[in-house]
Amino acid sequence: MKKLAALLALFCAPPATADFDAASYPPHETCALCHGLFGQSHTDKFPHLAGQKPGYIRAQLDAFLAGERSNDGGQMVSIVTELKHEDLPVVVKWFSEQDPPPPSPAPPDDAGMVLTAEAGCLDCHGADGADDVPYLSAQHAGYLTKQMRDFRDGKRTHSPVAGDHHQMLQKTDNVLDQIAAYLSSVERKE
Ligand code: HEC
Ligand code: HEC
Repeated sequence: MKKLAALLALFCAPPATADFDAASYPPHETCALCHGLFGQSHTDKFPHLAGQKPGYIRAQLDAFLAGERSNDGGQMVSIVTELKHEDLPVVVKWFSEQDPPPPSPAPPDDAGMVLTAEAGCLDCHGADGADDVPYLSAQHAGYLTKQMRDFRDGKRTHSPVAGDHHQMLQKTDNVLDQIAAYLSSVERKE
């Protein structure tokens, strides 16, 4: 129903004219080009935001705003600084309340599952995790791989767990890819 209401709002929106008033559009539409209107993006360069934990989404937006997270060629920083401060909770609520993305097909073997279980990743990242710990399940594998390499290589340093992740993820690209492929195939349980 939420989706239907949003679609209707889109179709009923006034046509773009010279008098186009950006302020009359809901703020999450600014994000739709990359992250999808309902938070499910089409390419793995852009993370799915649908059904992500609200505390985590907010923390990342604050980090982009503060210039603490900036490893994406500056796209997010420029978008978030355009957003009005009062719109931050609005976009967080929108994306966190959407249905989570569907999982990817399972990888051909259990290697990623075993590695993930051994490392205890889902102890923190599972459904019982804290509000500032992101879901990794059903996220794009390519996005997860990039973030893991960024932690491993010291390019994503802004969070209190960055040091732990830097240590935990000292593994070959191939191993990180196996973990990412497994995580992306896990159905999101909330
Ligand atoms: C031009 C493309 C683009 C637009 C528009 C955009 N983003 Fe992003 N966003 C990105 C990219 C690229 C990343 C991944 C950054 C990285 O690799 O670290 C990202 C990452 C994020 C993350 C971090 C997700 C995670 O799992 O860590 C959040 C939250 C986010 N965007 C929210 C938003 C919101 C809210 C908007 C609209 C106000 C928005 N984005 C608009 C490109 C975009
Ligand atoms: C002690 C709890 C904990 C454990 C264990 C843990 N993580 Fe995390 N992880 C976090 C937190 C908290 C964040 C959010 C960091 C931030 O705010 O930037 C995070 C962020 C991430 C992200 C970024 C997700 C995104 O959407 O950008 C990835 C990928 C990740 N962890 C992978 C792993 C993997 C793989 C393992 C197992 C090897 C693991 N984590 C183990 C707490 C944990």
